[in-house]
Amino acid sequence: MKVIEIEGNRELSGQIRISGAKNATVALIPAAILTDEEATICNVPEITDTDALCDILKELNVNVNRSTESLVINPKDMKNIEIKEEFSKKLRASYYFMGALLGKYKKAVMYFPGGCSIGARPIDLHLKGFEALGAKVTNEKNKYTVEAEELHGANIYLDIASVGATINIMLAAVRAKGKTVIDNAAKEPEIVNVATFLNNMGAKITGAGTSTIKIEGVDYLHKCFHEVIPDRIEAGTYLIIAALCGKDLRIDNVIPEHIDSLTSKLEEMGIKLDIGIDYVRVLEVPEKLKATDIKTAVYPGFATDLQQPFTVLLTQAEGKSKVTETIWENRFMHIPYLNALGADIAVENQTAKIEGPTELKGCEVVATDLRAGAAMVAAGLKASGKTTITNSEHILRGYESIIEKLTNVGAKITLKEI
Ligand code: UD1
Repeated sequence: MKVIEIEGNRELSGQIRISGAKNATVALIPAAILTDEEATICNVPEITDTDALCDILKELNVNVNRSTESLVINPKDMKNIEIKEEFSKKLRASYYFMGALLGKYKKAVMYFPGGCSIGARPIDLHLKGFEALGAKVTNEKNKYTVEAEELHGANIYLDIASVGATINIMLAAVRAKGKTVIDNAAKEPEIVNVATFLNNMGAKITGAGTSTIKIEGVDYLHKCFHEVIPDRIEAGTYLIIAALCGKDLRIDNVIPEHIDSLTSKLEEMGIKLDIGIDYVRVLEVPEKLKATDIKTAVYPGFATDLQQPFTVLLTQAEGKSKVTETIWENRFMHIPYLNALGADIAVENQTAKIEGPTELKGCEVVATDLRAGAAMVAAGLKASGKTTITNSEHILRGYESIIEKLTNVGAKITLKEI
């Protein structure tokens, strides 16, 4: 097991550079098999989710070449074989191979995806989308076979604006015959990044970033070069850490517009920010932070993935704050550990009520999932004394070089294997 240890309560200063977006990368890697030529993707983060997807590519006999600068994927000799459970269960995003294999070969066989335990996480909308495109879905125990004689365009309305279903349907539809329209599509920036990648390969997708995406099917996709956008969740996490313990800490390589909902909330709490073209710096944190409420929502609303780290900041605000989680039903697993560190938080249904400010004191906590782990890091950096975070492999799934990045700005943080 991986364990992170933090000696907290230190001022952090300097710059932290944000890596490529995890949630874009995990879709771009499966999307790359839609061509028979080489796809070069740069700014790919070195996180274990990237490794897990590259392992699936290698299983499928796809040539993968990783350098620090880029990931080169060549599916020329690819074989469409079943993706075993040991691969699919490593991460949620393995489900993008369903859409990509279906789009390319009209057949995908794989086991149910894994991922963080933050709710039921069904894939019914993905499957309904595939069926609308002409595929037949069969499910035996945990194994899904999705197959079509021919994929044809369709009008698809998503009951929920699901990120995964929007991207997966796009992947299946780019090489289908005719026009597909996805209504109530999710609008996250990662979806735009994936659509741009596919368009660079010759796909005809319009409307990505709005709630209606139109896809005109094409016969062939060609080689391309693409860059992953900066990770808005990583940026938001470090910005929260900067608000908690920064002294002139600047977060670089950010698209500030992508974290508007967070920066607005920070300003509402009384924090002064310097928002540049590609950076955000915390200029001043008031002695008394104002309490505030957040409610998670689909983009451009407050990101559910930042809810857990943001709760840590709310423990330092004066008075009562509320966090309402609307996307995932089980995303308060970090709360008992924040309380163990000294917070005063009560959870009622989908709302966490925070009474602040409370002093945080280091102790042993658990990273129950990726963003809960990020919350533990933020809390450990603020807490006095030593915080030990077990199950930290969850954190390494999504934060590139987290130990180095925080050490470089003055944190005392180490990673151990026990
Ligand atoms: C993605 C992100 C995740 C983020 C989430 C919401 C990736 C790899 N992960 O997850 O970090 O927390 O968006 O912003 O990009 N739903 C269904 N049926 C489906 C699909 C989804 O009911 O077929 C529900 C889910 O249970 C959830 C909601 O829709 O309540 C949103 O899920 P979705 O947007 O699909 O999340 P993911 O794509 O899994």
